[in-house]
Amino acid sequence: MQTPDAVITGWGHYVPERVLTNADLERMVGTTNEWIVERSGIRERRIVADDESTCSMAAAAGRAALARARVSATDLDVIVIATTTPDYLLPTAAAVVQHELGATNAGIFDLGAACAGFIYGLAVARGLIAAASARRILVVGAETISRYVDWTDRSTCVLFGDGAGAVVVEASAEGPGIASAVLRGDGGKSELLTVKGGGSKHPPTLESVRDKLHHIRMQGSEVFKVAVPSMAAAAEEAIAQAGLRLRDIDLLVPHQANLRIIEAVAKRLRLDASRVFTNIEHYGNTSAASIPIALSEAIAQGRVHRGDRLVFAAFGGGMTWGAAVVNWTAAP
Ligand code: UT7
Repeated sequence: MQTPDAVITGWGHYVPERVLTNADLERMVGTTNEWIVERSGIRERRIVADDESTCSMAAAAGRAALARARVSATDLDVIVIATTTPDYLLPTAAAVVQHELGATNAGIFDLGAACAGFIYGLAVARGLIAAASARRILVVGAETISRYVDWTDRSTCVLFGDGAGAVVVEASAEGPGIASAVLRGDGGKSELLTVKGGGSKHPPTLESVRDKLHHIRMQGSEVFKVAVPSMAAAAEEAIAQAGLRLRDIDLLVPHQANLRIIEAVAKRLRLDASRVFTNIEHYGNTSAASIPIALSEAIAQGRVHRGDRLVFAAFGGGMTWGAAVVNWTAAP
């Protein structure tokens, strides 16, 4: 029997309405619009309202992706949510979203691979479909980093934003849609990007709050140095695994952590700006949500066409990184 291919048939995203601009941040911490734009490319980011959370955004993005794919929630076999900021430790975000969507026949789990989580999710979906364990999978990247940011730490608080993006991945004979997926990691460098509090090692206590263990901490310039070569190497490997060359790639949809990282990766891959999608200026770093949000916006802006070859590449805490090549088979 032929192995089924995994094809993206639906997509969608959700970002909160509230916009936090660099000018707003100038009033909150010792930073300037110039520094933020020059060092990161970010001009504004979205922040959740009090009644919003990772799961509410994930459900909204998921609903949009299901509508686009014309798949009903009850037809989903699996929901996987890539997130480092779930609503709860238990139940999982996928459980909350399953109930919200009414996806009563779906297996549900979360996936923790930080900013690379969406690529890991695509790889898992592709594998489940190849193994004939599932035929319709909702892969979501959703994050509410704003609730983990130390708003007095200018080296991190200016960088992150909230949002969610989702795709429906289906078994198809039309493929190969997701043509390759490369997953990598280096736990030896995990100290570069952490949230130490709230887990079993440092459960929440008065002391953990006092010591600010529940906030995100990052050694930004060290992360930067590892991110560029790692993302580029993973992208090259994914392109080769898909049987393609660099010149075959129509669009790079990278994780949006820093415009300078994206430009450096694109340069290594010899892709000019017309073959790279960026929206970091509007959303900042939304971690696992950034690639599916970017994909959804790229499609809405007419940057993705049937037959295009896309490459996704991401790098994040863990450290984790990876890349995937997708042959775009869906009509816009
Ligand atoms: O998505 C997960 C993975 N994360 C990433 O990929 C992020 C990777 N790293 C980065 O994007 C960049 O390293 C940053 C944007 C975080 C920082 O840019 P940088 O060019 O590496 O700056 P830096 O950390 O080396 O800091 C340079 C200076 C420092 O001052 P001194 O020591 O040179 O006097 C910082 O204190 O900039 C200062 N600084 C700021 N100044 C104004 C740091 N944050 C700010 C700020 N406003 N918000």
